[in-house]
Amino acid sequence: MNTTPPTDCRAWTRIAAHAETWKHARIDELLQNDPARTTAFVAEGAGLKLDYSRQRLGGLTLGLLAQLLQERGFEDWCGALLEGRVVNPTENRPAWHTALRAGETAPEEVKATLARMAQLADGMAGIRRIVNLGIGGSDLGPRLVYGALRAQRIREARFVASPDPAALAGALEGAEPDSTLFVVVSKTFTSAETLANAEAAKRWGGKRLIAVSNNVEAARRFGAAEVLPLPEWVGGRYSLWSAAGFSAFAALGAERFGELLAGARDMDQHFASAPPQRNLPVLMALIGIWNVNFLGCGTHAVLPYAHALRLLPAHLQQLEMESNGKRVDHRGSELAYATAPVVWGAEGTPSQHSFHQLLHQGTQVVPVDFIDPGLEALLSANARAQADALALGTQDPSLPPQRRHPGNRPCSILSMPGLGARALGALLAAWEHKVFTQGVLWNIDSFDQWGVELGKQMANERLKENR
Ligand code: F6P
Repeated sequence: MNTTPPTDCRAWTRIAAHAETWKHARIDELLQNDPARTTAFVAEGAGLKLDYSRQRLGGLTLGLLAQLLQERGFEDWCGALLEGRVVNPTENRPAWHTALRAGETAPEEVKATLARMAQLADGMAGIRRIVNLGIGGSDLGPRLVYGALRAQRIREARFVASPDPAALAGALEGAEPDSTLFVVVSKTFTSAETLANAEAAKRWGGKRLIAVSNNVEAARRFGAAEVLPLPEWVGGRYSLWSAAGFSAFAALGAERFGELLAGARDMDQHFASAPPQRNLPVLMALIGIWNVNFLGCGTHAVLPYAHALRLLPAHLQQLEMESNGKRVDHRGSELAYATAPVVWGAEGTPSQHSFHQLLHQGTQVVPVDFIDPGLEALLSANARAQADALALGTQDPSLPPQRRHPGNRPCSILSMPGLGARALGALLAAWEHKVFTQGVLWNIDSFDQWGVELGKQMANERLKENR
């Protein structure tokens, strides 16, 4: 597979030259001069709709970015991802999360685990509360899914990641040992924080404890009554579709979880088959590359206009920044170009009365993704008004400078058909494919995370010294 730097590609040089001609482009003029833009710069896939007409780019920009994809050998990389070949060379592993939601065509081990998850959930009549103990990818994805679909829950779930005892204490308020199931999720079964919480759960009197892990032996030694397997070929931040999502599965029910998987599968099929310029996650990736590498934007905000999606930015932070926060390429050479932006955000609407001031008038240009499931007229009106205010601004010379809005701040609106499990699955899978596509373009390993190791090691040394 192609591991040459993107900067060696002819398309990269052409995009850089093209970017010069876009320096003074204005989004309001683009929209005025081309009324078809609001329908042409829209992509649909798996029920989602991406309106990127308020981005500072044109058709030629996307054509050149698509050429870059081709020169980088994107098709080969994509085939490797979807067929479960090694795409994480530093750990010599596939990243085969798409197999977890492949339905009928999923590997037997995936089907067997899903069947066991359903059996376990069926046998949980006396369980009133599930407490998920996990951190990073063993927490954020399932926590988000449960939080987003909580209105449809069949039992309560709580999620504990922090080893601060206050976190577990909060999750156990009002709980009884007999009706509480602890689900210890740790791929490695070595994360100090998760193990500390699992020990604390035992001290509290927790009697019912199962584990989800790739390290079955360690989980059994710990005393888990059952260990649901987590395949080695699934990365933590891509694992919510696996048994790592068991807490969400058992709290929402197998049917809801099945819909989540089906939505992700819809998106996988769209990603695998749509041409780049109509491929929703690929377009999200190309737009991101354009904003980071050619327009010089170092951060990216994600604003979901739904209270139920308030944890989305935290999940996407891990997905993007742990995957693509890298400074060397596949060959180990230091990069001469930027990779993942700082991803941040919060629930839209409350955020308007807080940090949007900076988005509208600050000195940094922050591209924004507005996520709109269309739940309430006020929410959608707000999302769309914010997008227009950022992109168009005000050109009224009678206003004092302090009250002027410069506009020309790029943003996209990602619309979802409501907030059902299927739409959520499609949304999360779209983001995974965006991240993968950017990793291919940046020539980096999106599936390792060596940067988190040094701090863990140093903390362990300190703990040993203090004992
Ligand atoms: O420290 C980072 C990380 O390795 C994440 O990638 C992972 O999701 C998290 O820790 C938890 O790891 P584990 O599931 O092995 O406890």
